[in-house]
Amino acid sequence: MAGAPASLSGRDVGSFAYLTIKDRIPQILTKAIDTLHRHKNEFFEKHGEKGTEAEKKAISLLSKLRNELQTDKPIIPFVEKFVDTDIWNQYLEYQQSLADENDGKPRWFFSPWLFVECYMYRRIHEAIIQSPPIDDFDVFQESKEQNFFESEESIIALCTHLQELVTTVEDLDENQLKDAFFKLLQVSLWGNKCDLSLSGGETSSQRTNIINSVEELKPFILVNDMDHLWSLLNNCRKARENTSVTRVDIVLDNSGFELVTDLVLADFLLSSQLATEIHFYGKTIPWFVSDTTLHDFNWLIEQMKDSHHKWMAKCGADWETHIKMGRWVYHDHIFWTLPHEFCVMSQVAPDLYAELQKAHLILFKGDLNYRKLTGDRKWEFTVPFRQALAGFHPAPLCSVRTLKAEVQVGLRPGQAEQLAAAEPDWLTTGKFGVLQFDGPL
Ligand code: F6P
Ligand code: MG
Repeated sequence: MAGAPASLSGRDVGSFAYLTIKDRIPQILTKAIDTLHRHKNEFFEKHGEKGTEAEKKAISLLSKLRNELQTDKPIIPFVEKFVDTDIWNQYLEYQQSLADENDGKPRWFFSPWLFVECYMYRRIHEAIIQSPPIDDFDVFQESKEQNFFESEESIIALCTHLQELVTTVEDLDENQLKDAFFKLLQVSLWGNKCDLSLSGGETSSQRTNIINSVEELKPFILVNDMDHLWSLLNNCRKARENTSVTRVDIVLDNSGFELVTDLVLADFLLSSQLATEIHFYGKTIPWFVSDTTLHDFNWLIEQMKDSHHKWMAKCGADWETHIKMGRWVYHDHIFWTLPHEFCVMSQVAPDLYAELQKAHLILFKGDLNYRKLTGDRKWEFTVPFRQALAGFHPAPLCSVRTLKAEVQVGLRPGQAEQLAAAEPDWLTTGKFGVLQFDGPL
């Protein structure tokens, strides 16, 4: 993008991007290999010798990938035909043209971090689809499910809170409604701490009742635009005629506990009539370890429905009804698992851009979405969010993100310096968060 600062990259030795490529990504690959190995018997039982052969093939492809990465080999094109192969390979050519200017080739520790990290997950997918009959195996599924089960107590607390709220929602005055909305927005924000990519694929579940922590976590929200969201949705509610729609779109991030927090928020938006329709966007392939696929989405609702806990089961049943009645709509699109920054969405995926334009508000969950919103670039911390979005504005939008990468914009002068003095790794631990809004043009 002309005039924009350089991309974050593994070239910057010691940076978070560098450490991720050096340590975290190989660890995730090793875990994926172990997972395949552990399922050896299952593959054999299901497919006989062909299953065993496939498991060996997938493991050897992933080992080769890990070796390419660790020895900083050039990035190679995709060979297996899949819906997005041509777009990916075109993007590789574009990266090649950027590297040419520097007399080099796209490489792991040389190219933009966003690109190589996305490329890594797409290569994992390629290794799997090149290994039929286990070509629909999700190497991260077990971890996602474990995250859900380990967070059960916290999920129960959240569902109980939601059900109490839903039964009294009609009696709430405007201030009480606003407070309830703010609480669940913050729960959804802190739910983003639970991703499994930052932890290198290791467990990262929610074990305490998050609702009780919301107040004490408030000082860690560095940009807090909740008031804007409230005004926008409350005005829609007041102005709405009987038949008209208020649509909130949620670009999902991680499955497990975070997804529950998003669905609880979505449920509340409907019952409070702050919205009448919610559209969710998930990933078409396993992505950044814990990101939500259609399978994860359905699996989680099914688990909730089958729970022995009364309120968890009630949530599951209500959510299934929302889907059946079309009040909740799930979409997927290959754009979400491409390496592109969002400012090119209108050219690369005009259909998706047009879909998002129908929303009154779009919530972008999580860190990776923030990196793509801002192009994963070395912006000054005080640059306005609007500037970093570089023309991406399908509808009013808000990033709901805990910080896990060295990019942040829209801070007050001096705020970043103060944070850095108190906590040198404030950008990357997930301890801090933003609810950062970009309103009507
Ligand atoms: O490897 C760490 C990391 O890749 C972040 O930098 C990345 O953005 C994050 O994991 C995924 O976080 P989230 O699930 O919030 O998008
Ligand atoms: Mg994620």
